Formats: sequence, structure tokens, C-alpha cells
Amino acid sequence: MKTRRKFLTELLFAGVILGGCSLGSSYSFLGRNGSPAPVQQGQIECQPLDMASQTILHHASLAPSGHNCQPWRVRLCQHHKWIIEADPTRRLPYVDSNNRELLLSLGAFLENLSIAAATLGLHAEIEILGSDSMDREIARVFFEEGPAADYNLQLLERRRTVRKGLSPRVISPSDLARLTATTEGQTIYVARGSKQSTYLEDSVVEAFRLQARRDDAQEEFVRWLRLNKNEIMRHRDGITTQSMGLGGIAEWYVSTFMSPADFLSDKMRQKGVDATAAQAREGGGWLLLTNRSQAVADLLTCGRRFQRLALAACELGIAIHPMSQILEEEGAPSLDGILRGDSSIPQFVLRVGYIDRYPTSVRLRRPADWFVYS
Ligand SMILES: Cc1cc2nc3c(=O)[nH]c(=O)nc-3n(C[C@H](O)[C@H](O)[C@H](O)COP(=O)(O)O)c2cc1C
Repeated sequence: MKTRRKFLTELLFAGVILGGCSLGSSYSFLGRNGSPAPVQQGQIECQPLDMASQTILHHASLAPSGHNCQPWRVRLCQHHKWIIEADPTRRLPYVDSNNRELLLSLGAFLENLSIAAATLGLHAEIEILGSDSMDREIARVFFEEGPAADYNLQLLERRRTVRKGLSPRVISPSDLARLTATTEGQTIYVARGSKQSTYLEDSVVEAFRLQARRDDAQEEFVRWLRLNKNEIMRHRDGITTQSMGLGGIAEWYVSTFMSPADFLSDKMRQKGVDATAAQAREGGGWLLLTNRSQAVADLLTCGRRFQRLALAACELGIAIHPMSQILEEEGAPSLDGILRGDSSIPQFVLRVGYIDRYPTSVRLRRPADWFVYS
């Protein structure tokens, strides 16, 4: 039995290893002005990935990331080994100068990767390679045969960042216990209506206002805006009108008449602040996800916990909306009064709330063969 399963595992990966995958000379990492150049489908000379690898990588890529920058690359090695890398061209240097959020996103990627592999009876053994936050090689993944996990992969497809329609109802103790369990207790819930909740509401808006004044951060943001179909299909990443929660006439207007550069005007920056203030008033409170260190391995673990939390929330019909500017801006209001004074470091500030109908996923992602190489 063991030999047969081993054979099957070998077979599943044979396509990846034998097929190999080399980067064509036209593969270009950097566009003008340092923005990530799109890698067009077909530019990478690559044998098709086998089904198992496709399934694992597709689900891994559904992980959330700041600005939907999808900062991952995967190097396919021999003997069922993959190296998970940080893609330096997908960094967000002006809001995430030390790669904290990049590593949290890669943690979420690893969590999805493990879940998807487990459903195929493959245990993903993850060895952390990175020790400095700027390291390119982050983790090595080996796949070993294991029992197939009974997990509904649809949940990975359904999960999304939900920014609209959050109810003011506070999170019930049983739901909260479920959410907290996914993060091994590293969450602090601040219920709507409390003094601390009002403090957070004001503070996230203040932090957003600070960031809206920074040209470098705003220019970085607009480089990730994908306002029309052509841009969406060309890049398959970034922020769209749909992910911003625009609908109806507003969406039509923005996608037809506006360019990303228009978002740099004072008027649009103020609109962003106003929209954030309106969002911050909605929801059943806040969740702070914390950890104890900024070490690479700890940030990856925290990203994995965040993803588990987001998946559990999706199952419970609870929206999760990271509002990160308060962790990004120097001079933003302090969170010390909310932390328990136990040297916890806040890694995510999340607006949470029940929603009547979980919206359809935007699911804008690069296909696996855009981010793998060997
Ligand atoms: C580390 C991190 C920070 C994020 N910060 C914000 C944020 O400040 N504001 C926001 O609206 N979304 C934020 N997001 C959510 C991303 O924008 C979102 O994951 C991405 O656009 C992909 O969309 P999806 O989560 O719906 O799949 C963050 C996500 C991560 C992983």
C-alpha cells in the first residue's frame, strides 16, 4: 500500500520535475518606474504543471496580500521540493519597508498550500529558510504522503476581504471562541460600543489620513490599481473597483473615465479618508492579531494564523477587513492601551462584523504558471 501511494506521489509530481520550467528571455521582472511588469501568460516557457501541483498552487495563491500584490514565487526543485520565495519586484517599500506584511502574506500562502496539499493526501513539511526579512528564499516545502484531510477547498475560494455591509452586532462568545482558537489565543477582541472601540475607530482614520498625505505611499498604491478589464487581464493582481467595493454607477464611472493617476488628487485622497471613516463606523468591533516577535518565522506563523482566522470567519458569515495604516504610519496613534501590556506586537488590526450575505469572491490572481520557475 505504502509503495503504491509512494508511486502515486511520484507520479503526481513527475510533471513538475521532468517537465521543468525555464524562464524565457522575455521574462522581465521590473517595469519602468520600478513597478512590477506584468508577466504575460505564455512568456514563461513552461511545461504544463501536473494536476496536483496546479491544485496546490492555485489554492495557495488565493491567499490575501497587501494591495493584492501576491509577493510569492515558487521554485520547483527535485524530489518533491519547492522553494517559496519573496518576489522582490512585488514589495511595497513605502508602506511595508521592512517586509512585515510581505511575510504575513507569505504565511497565508503557506497555510493555503498546506491545506490544499493535505486534501490530496500530501503533508507539506515546511522548513523556514529566511532569517532576515529581506531574504529572498523564505521556506522549503517537501511533500510527504499522509492521510487525505477532509477539508472543503471551496472555503479557500469563497474567502475574501469584505469591506462593506458589516452589522453592528457584537461577535457572540461562541463565534469568538472559534475565531480565537484558530490563532492559538493571539487575538484581542474589542467590541463595538466600548471606549476602546471608539478609540480604534478614530485611530484607524487618523492613520489613514496620515498615509493619504504621503505622496510616496499614494503613488505606490495607484501602481496597484487595476481600473478596467484590460488592466485586470494583463496583471491579474492589484486592487480593482470590485475589490474596493464599488458597484453600479460608481464602478462604471471609475472604470470608464478615471485613470489610476486621478487617485492622487487632493479630492480623491479626501474621498479615501471619508470612505475609511464611514467604514470604521461599521461593524461589530475590532480584532487585533498579535505575536511576540518580528522574526521571519514568527511573522510567517502569524500569517498562517491570520489565514485560519479568515477562513473560520468566512464559514461563520463574519467579515474581516484589515485596516493596516495604523501599523504602517510613523506617528499613528498608539495601540498600547488596548494591548494587554504583555509585550505582544500587533500584526493585524481587523474590523469585524456579521454580514447578511457573504459577497462573491473577487478572486483576481495570477495563474500558477506566472509565478513558478525552476
Ligand atoms: C498583510 C495584509 C495587509 C492588508 N491591509 C489592508 C488594508 O490596510 N486595507 C484593506 O482594505 N485591505 C487590506 N488587506 C487585504 C488585501 O487588500 C486583500 O487581501 C487583497 O486585495 C486580496 O483580496 P482578497 O483578500 O479579497 O482575496 C491586507 C491584507 C494583508 C495580507
